Amino acid sequence: MEGFLVRSPGGQGRPLRGEVRVGGAKNSALKLMAASLLAPGTTTITNLPDILDVDVMARLLDELGCTTRVDHTRAVVEIDVPEELAHHAPYQLVRRLRASISVLGPLLARCGRAEVALPGGDAIGSRGLDMHLEGLERLGAESRIEHGYVVAEATAGLHGAEVGLEFPSVGATENILLAATLADGTTVLDNVAREPEIADLCGMLVAMGARIDGIGSGTLRVEGVRRLSPVEHATVGDRIVGGTWAFAAAIAGGEVEVHGVDPAHLGIVLDKLDRAGAQVTRHEHGFGVRVERRLRSFDVVTLPFPGFPTDLQPFAMALAAVSDGTAMVTENVFEARFMFAQELARLGADVHVDGHHAVVRGRPRLSGAEVVAHDIRAGAALVLAGLAAEGETTVADSFHVDRGYPGFVEQLTGLGVDIERVELADLDDR
Ligand code: EPZ
Repeated sequence: MEGFLVRSPGGQGRPLRGEVRVGGAKNSALKLMAASLLAPGTTTITNLPDILDVDVMARLLDELGCTTRVDHTRAVVEIDVPEELAHHAPYQLVRRLRASISVLGPLLARCGRAEVALPGGDAIGSRGLDMHLEGLERLGAESRIEHGYVVAEATAGLHGAEVGLEFPSVGATENILLAATLADGTTVLDNVAREPEIADLCGMLVAMGARIDGIGSGTLRVEGVRRLSPVEHATVGDRIVGGTWAFAAAIAGGEVEVHGVDPAHLGIVLDKLDRAGAQVTRHEHGFGVRVERRLRSFDVVTLPFPGFPTDLQPFAMALAAVSDGTAMVTENVFEARFMFAQELARLGADVHVDGHHAVVRGRPRLSGAEVVAHDIRAGAALVLAGLAAEGETTVADSFHVDRGYPGFVEQLTGLGVDIERVELADLDDR
């Protein structure tokens, strides 16, 4: 089993110093790849993140009849989309990549039928699909769950409709939006997600010929068109990876310059670090974080964008564990995203979870231990907590982190961290 080994003598690892370049957003690139299904011909996506999930999505598109050419050295994928698509997205691929559910809308729009394996839940929550299906049914689709698959049909084609989301779900917004671009008539999608990745997807769709108003607002108006055209599109910078580096500087101290992310996509995060005592500088394509002394604790409430992103919640908790004071962390988006707290407690953090609240009392430093990554963000946050933990910290199941962080070890090493990949004996053999 592969893991990370972080050494931090005296729990005061060397302050971080240096620059990091952030690539395209995982949570956009995967949906841009799914959107390519809407237009026969060759779509090219650039600023592509070099992560496992991109390769799995490419394999899924190949399974649907496309020909993909992923070139991680140039951070590009070219996708040849045929006139005739297959409509079956198999379990063995979907189970490895929840984001593959975003082929549902495009397949329904292009083929009038889609069979997509149910991705199931994961470490952070049940991850329902009810809002996806209700929205697609408003556009005229019929759906049912059969043998572990979502089977959706629109034999008479899709039509425009008024759809109000119960919660601004990212995934449901994307699937309904993708389907509505080729529907007959106009769709008004209310209470949609406003994450920068949604705006990025809208930008690509408009370049393909889609008619979308209200981009960036809580309501999208989509006038369906008969045909879309393939384009070349650059993926927006990964604000969650950018935010991770901001927290790295906050937890370990030092100074980190982050390039490739729009600081406006991290507004509330950088504001909070600023108010807690960090020196934050913003510029057009990036930001800097400088931390010379222990930060003051701050409360966090996760909410859809522009609220505090749930994907940075584990980092906020890790920072709170070594900050000056007590913090309340409230998780409103994923009901099981506090599993991370148990692992953080293994590093000596004073953290108490009660429902979707966690109270974290800061300590000057943590103590190194063996911990396990249960998902992408929790894994990366445990590595950062290891920077403030005396001695050695090992984080098992590093594959989770590799799904979302290209060159994580190399970038940390570049900032002065003593970290390496190690083979770990299986937990059961220990
Ligand atoms: C996307 O997940 C991201 N994943 C997540 O990032 C991110 O945390 C999340 O958006 C919120 O920002 C990708 O883009 C691949 P949601 P998604 O639909 O689309 C419930 C990471 O670490 N819900 O906004 O699945 C759902 O269970 C990942 O990169 C329903 O109940 O998020 C959750 O509690 C983790 N029914 C909440 O809404 C539905 O039909 C938000 O889910 C849809 C959602």
